[in-house]
Amino acid sequence: MAKLANPLLLLTILFILLVLLHNIPAITSQEVDDEREFDYKPNGEKGPVRWGEIHPDWIACKNGTLQSPIDLLHERVEVVSHLGRLNRSYKSSNATLKNRGHDMMLQFEGGAGTLRINGTEYILNQVHWHSPSEHTLNGKRFVLELHMVHESKDGKVAVVGIMYKIGRPDSFLSSIRNQLESVAGTTERETVVGFVNPRDIKIGSRKYYRYIGSLTVPPCTENVLWTIVRKVRTVTREQVRLLRVAVHDESDTNARPIQQINNRWLKLYRPEEGKDD
Ligand SMILES: *[C@@H]1O[C@H](CO)[C@@H](O)[C@H](O)[C@H]1NC(C)=O
Ligand SMILES: *[C@@H]1O[C@H](CO)[C@@H](O)[C@H](O)[C@H]1NC(C)=O
Ligand SMILES: *[C@@H]1O[C@H](CO)[C@@H](O)[C@H](O)[C@H]1NC(C)=O
Ligand SMILES: *[C@@H]1O[C@H](CO)[C@@H](O)[C@H](O)[C@H]1NC(C)=O
Repeated sequence: MAKLANPLLLLTILFILLVLLHNIPAITSQEVDDEREFDYKPNGEKGPVRWGEIHPDWIACKNGTLQSPIDLLHERVEVVSHLGRLNRSYKSSNATLKNRGHDMMLQFEGGAGTLRINGTEYILNQVHWHSPSEHTLNGKRFVLELHMVHESKDGKVAVVGIMYKIGRPDSFLSSIRNQLESVAGTTERETVVGFVNPRDIKIGSRKYYRYIGSLTVPPCTENVLWTIVRKVRTVTREQVRLLRVAVHDESDTNARPIQQINNRWLKLYRPEEGKDD
């Protein structure tokens, strides 16, 4: 970044960015990729409390009523056994790791299989990380949260969230360590990882929370079907550090504050004793 860039190259980059920006309103169910439009500085002009004022299409960030993340408060939870085990049919897919400035994202070319919920099939498009965790469990925040973002053919979004505390290394993050290192730095923005099987992202529990919320980044689109795995898994401090380097504002964190639950239901799926689902 210290070297003086060629003006023609700068103009070309500017042009590409303008084209990308111009296209954002057309894809409101997608997360915003551009890092400069919003950040996580608590009192900043582009910080979370201002997201809804930055762009007309981001109004849900301000006056939506089904926003995420939320606190998964035990007292509010209705324990149920009829939601069924997570029905995942993932497959290996060529993946690219991207440093989006506000997070690290692993994107699967052509989708990496499906998650079926109540008759709807959602295709896994990408996974990305937030640190610290965005959802909290009974007020407790963890060090990291992974989001697996799925979308159905008719544009419905389902996200599976997994939370982590400090402990043993996460084997999936270990497997992409070299690629994380190469994009966490300042120069390379993305790198091809090759074939990645999302089944290698361990869940380790059948229990999960379920509620209806939103994307946790602009445009904060609502009616996202959330699944948060009950079990808190582990990562090392070094793995968290690698993911945090990607966040370009000085806070080095990328968790949206907790949103109002507003009379929403919150369920915890727990299989019945001795039954498989
Ligand atoms: C959001 O709030 C603004 C100002 O209070 C209001 O004009 C607008 O209709 C609201 N939009 C929605 C979708 O509720
Ligand atoms: C899981 O989904 C497949 C289709 O993708 C379906 O055939 C199967 O019955 C589902 N299993 C459960 C337990 O819902
Ligand atoms: C994966 O995608 C990259 C970028 O599109 C491509 O260059 C590469 O050949 C692909 N790898 C495989 C094994 O298909
Ligand atoms: C599943 O979908 C049916 C209609 O397709 C709906 O009536 C039912 O409430 C849904 N169940 C859950 C648990 O969301």
